[in-house]
Amino acid sequence: MNMHVISRPISISSFRVLLVILLQLATTSDSSLDSFIYVGCSQISYAPGTAFESNVNSILSSILNSAAVSNYNNFKISNPGAGAGDTVYGLFQCRGDLSTSDCHDCVSNGVTRLGASCVGSTGGALQFDGCYLRYDNASFLGVEDKTVASDKCGPIGDESDLLTRRDSVLDFLKSGGQFFRVSGSGKIQGLAQCVQDLSVDECQDCLSEAIQRLRSECGSSAWGDMFLGKCYARYSERGYTSKHENGDDVEKTLAIFIGLVAAVAILIVFLSFFSKLFDSKGGK
Ligand SMILES: *[C@@H]1O[C@H](CO)[C@@H](O)[C@H](O)[C@H]1NC(C)=O
Repeated sequence: MNMHVISRPISISSFRVLLVILLQLATTSDSSLDSFIYVGCSQISYAPGTAFESNVNSILSSILNSAAVSNYNNFKISNPGAGAGDTVYGLFQCRGDLSTSDCHDCVSNGVTRLGASCVGSTGGALQFDGCYLRYDNASFLGVEDKTVASDKCGPIGDESDLLTRRDSVLDFLKSGGQFFRVSGSGKIQGLAQCVQDLSVDECQDCLSEAIQRLRSECGSSAWGDMFLGKCYARYSERGYTSKHENGDDVEKTLAIFIGLVAAVAILIVFLSFFSKLFDSKGGK
């Protein structure tokens, strides 16, 4: 009987550990969409309780509502009673491969984060992995912007053909005519995205700049990120596409999940077999 009492807490605690691993596996792919890239706020402040503040709030809620049904939208808001100088402009852009619900989740987290980071600022911009948001009291809609917002290069890669693959990935990204593009060569994946208020030509021009900067600044790095005002290009060995678009990842996660469930089942059978064995020995 004693052995039985001892063996049960062991099986329960192992089960808990595995449950935690399972829960983490189930949540990691989604949380990467709101991985933080950057946030920036205008240095100029507006007074609280003004018509300007209510326009900012209207912009943020319009962005949030619109993201429930679309991947991109822009707004110009001047509530009744507000002066001409109180007009606020805003937009959001989700990464081209996101489902509407992933886009909405990302924008929803973004609105919360941007609102909290830029309290009282006349303008602010935020970039997550999966979405971009911006508002300002100066119109920036339809205006190309190639200023660097965030650039990062990884450590030097160790693959011998890294440079060749990286260059062919970047060449493909530069050759398209779409607002969102992906490409891959071996383990290297690349991704490019423009904000859709640009024309196709402006998008192309912005991406050319981002890609040329990636090549010159990130040398032979294993990964690189180049976020400009209205477009970005990235490459990496780990890839970017979301789990809903990537069948392989879903299958891999599912296979690991089933494997772990089987391992837990075997462990339980094993432990209960031993506890019975000890029970019967104790009984004799
Ligand atoms: C934006 O708001 C600030 C502060 O009220 C003001 O000084 C500035 O002129 C405004 N800019 C525009 C383009 O309206």
